[in-house]
Amino acid sequence: MEKLTVPQGAFQLARYPQRKNDPLRAWDAADEYLLHHLYEENLLDARTSILILNDLFGALSIALTDYRPQLISDSYLSHQGTRANLIRNDLSTGQVRLLNSLQDPDVTFDVVLIKIPRSLAFLEDQLHRLRACLHPATRIIGASMVKGIHTSTLNLFERIFGSTHTSLARKKARLIFCQPTMETEPGTNPYPSRYTLEDTGDQIINHANVFSREKLDIGTRLLLEHLPGTPASNTIIDLGCGNGVVGLIAAARNPTAELIFIDESFMAVASAKANFQTVFEGHRKAQFHVTDNLNDLPTGSADLVLINPPFHQERGQGDQVALHMFRESKTVLKQRGELWIVANRHLGYHIQIDRLFGNCRTITGNRKFVILKAVKR
Ligand SMILES: C[S@@+](CC[C@H](N)C(=O)[O-])C[C@H]1O[C@@H](n2cnc3c(N)ncnc32)[C@H](O)[C@@H]1O
Repeated sequence: MEKLTVPQGAFQLARYPQRKNDPLRAWDAADEYLLHHLYEENLLDARTSILILNDLFGALSIALTDYRPQLISDSYLSHQGTRANLIRNDLSTGQVRLLNSLQDPDVTFDVVLIKIPRSLAFLEDQLHRLRACLHPATRIIGASMVKGIHTSTLNLFERIFGSTHTSLARKKARLIFCQPTMETEPGTNPYPSRYTLEDTGDQIINHANVFSREKLDIGTRLLLEHLPGTPASNTIIDLGCGNGVVGLIAAARNPTAELIFIDESFMAVASAKANFQTVFEGHRKAQFHVTDNLNDLPTGSADLVLINPPFHQERGQGDQVALHMFRESKTVLKQRGELWIVANRHLGYHIQIDRLFGNCRTITGNRKFVILKAVKR
């Protein structure tokens, strides 16, 4: 495990879930830049109230625990990582108040620190929500690796808060400075947004940080066209459910099945729940879990697991998450239970799935995507 050394102290930090010999650190140069800047400019005193957005595994929150910060994140993995890192450094988990991305703090803050998320839509939603948490002297500082800051990022800050400028780059990281004025007219928050699912005419609601928020993903579309409908499907899991379209269609094709929707994004699960309840008007049974993978589910309990696995992860983990999903699916499936996935053809997942299940059939495919099926024997 690596040690983050900053003016605020030295902290042992690990990513979550923790993996042996993980080459990736639990923080980046933008975290270090931001913490050095707060110290060098003497921006904090004992009474400063701090809100932190999108802290990946708690590096910022943990270095700033003396100020009892509040942390907002859409990621269950970030919440868990922050808790584990607090404990690792003999700090109380009560020293950081963890909120999810749909919870708005009910106070104002002197300093708001924003790790810039990958999704511009999510940043837009967060900046809109933030307006209720500001007082006239609130200082906003964004931080990101240089490649994560675009003209559109700065335009968003300007439009919602007013005058914005950036720092020089340091170790390929940059800070964004914004002194908000309430004189800007940013319009209303456009999120959650909706699109119509062509085949059924259903309106699909999408919170800002949801995968393929504007339209149905083409891989997902292929999976929907081939979803199995069998009377034996009693328990169906939509793993990495996003807005829940896969589980919705699976529920329609399997009228007696119970659906379980799982995602590590709070916004994803909230969207899936809203969509399921709208379509089935409370007449269908379903479970909704914000968690890591199939962590909370009993062994040998599911008939069918459906996955459109995450690919390029914000956490830079490549295909590790997908492979972990396949392994856990095997554990959670009943004998003769089925795993169905859609994935980019070039990823070659059939090799790993075949190794794991002892079988893997290609149901269909096009130039870009394949649908693979494996049966637990
Ligand atoms: C490619 S998207 C698929 C979303 C949806 N099923 C669809 O087809 O539109 C992958 C999803 O996996 C979720 N995810 C990533 N890592 C996860 C994890 N460790 N546990 C649960 N869900 C995860 C992401 O938040 C994302 O919603």
